[in-house]
This record gives sequence, C-alpha cells and structure tokens, in this order.
Amino acid sequence: MSRHVTQRLLQISDPHLFADPEGDLLGQRTRLTLEGVLNLARANSGAADRVLLTGDLSQDASPAAYRYLADRCGRLGLPCHALPGNHDDPAEMARSLDASPIDMPHEVDCGPWRLILLDSTLAGREGGHLAAGSLRRLAATLAARPQAPTLVFLHHQPVPVGSPWLDEIGLNNPEDLFALLDHQPQVRGLVFGHIHQDFSAERNGVALLGAPSTCIQFRPGSQDFALDAATPGYRWLELHPDGRIDTGIERSADYPDPLDLSGAGY
Ligand SMILES: [Fe+2]
Repeated sequence: MSRHVTQRLLQISDPHLFADPEGDLLGQRTRLTLEGVLNLARANSGAADRVLLTGDLSQDASPAAYRYLADRCGRLGLPCHALPGNHDDPAEMARSLDASPIDMPHEVDCGPWRLILLDSTLAGREGGHLAAGSLRRLAATLAARPQAPTLVFLHHQPVPVGSPWLDEIGLNNPEDLFALLDHQPQVRGLVFGHIHQDFSAERNGVALLGAPSTCIQFRPGSQDFALDAATPGYRWLELHPDGRIDTGIERSADYPDPLDLSGAGY
C-alpha cells in the first residue's frame, strides 16, 4: 500500500557535533542548535516517513558525537539514513553508528521511490569527489530499477551555488555524475548538504536542492567565508507516487547563543 502514498522525508544536514557537550562552532553550541531543529521537525512533521542526514554529522569525528546524534535522532522514531561529509571520518562514523538508529545504506526503497546515498568525501580534503567505484555502483543501482523515480543524496554540491569560496570546495567531478544522470531520466533530484544555506535550482529536469545546516549558516552569494543571520533549519520533501517532488525549508525561531556574524572561518 505504501507504494501508492506520498513519501515524506526530512533532510537534516551539517550538525557539526562535538564529543564535548558544550562544543561550539563560532559561538553556537551545536548540540543546542540541533535540538532546536529536531524539536521543530517533530512539531511540524509528525507524519514524516524517514530522515536523511547529509554529512558533517560531527566536527571532531568523535565516537561520542556520532553516538549523541544517534540517540537524538532515535527519539524521532523514524528510519534515519546517513552519508558522510568532509568533517566526518567515514570509517569512525560507520563504527560508531553500527547497530544504532542511524544506518548508512547505499540505497533505500521508499514506496515507489528509490533513494541513493553517495559518499563524496576525500580523506583530508574539504572538497568532494565521486570515485569511479561509486559512479559504477550508482549506474548499476539505477539500472536495477529503471522505472523508479529516484533521489540521489551526497554531501558536496554538484553545481556552483554562487559563493566562490564554497564553490572551490564543491564536488570536483560533477561532469562524471551528470554524464551518467543525463541518460537516466528516472533521477528526479540531487540533494546535498555542505553549503549551509537554502538552495534550489534545476538542471535538465533534475531538481538540485541544498539545505540549511542545523547550526551556523553561510551567507548566500558571498565571495569569501561569511556567516548569515538566517537561523538553523532543515528541508522537508514530499515524494509523490507520480514522480513529483514538493519541498521547502523550515527554520528555528532563533539561535540559542548570541550570534556573532564576524567569524572569518570555521
Ligand atoms: Fe558543514
């Protein structure tokens, strides 16, 4: 029956958690900002079906940070799927989340839809890359259910978002990804984190969707690193059985700690 109903997803991205419960990113305690966003998600999206965590789960790649996230997400009572970002250690993340409420699947069937999760991280680098093996697996996964409307999730943005400092550390081989997707009309959207801001565009009928972080926000259109006064948030997606997507952003009312916009990096 679930094949015929709209699937509702929550994209929760870039929480940048620390082992230290008081750990902060430019003055914002990231456990508190995450808590605010999860409370909002719980209040607004009681009917959600699953949660996608699109990387930078931890700032210090510590087991304690990952376990904290698993505990908090577990309280949502929904399936939670994660992929790593440049601040994560994918191996430590997998170890720490093993047998937790958060899994790290390559693909998930979700009613008529298929969700595919890619690891775009490069060890020791801020920017991203899709390895040949990941692209081969993506092609094989798409070929296995060619009629299924599909969303592809990854951490790094595959297109410029208009912020030169951020675009220098986006996905460095988007042409390889698009060469594959251009022959796969079943892919309806690419959904990513990393940019800490709302972003929405379209390429050849494929939705390109970025999300706020659950902590600090980057100023849209800025040449250099700059914080934005927009508050932490998440993206919701409604995946309809006919392949259409409705989506939007919800944000917390405010920051738990005073916001200092003068931060020059993170
Ligand atoms: Fe991030």
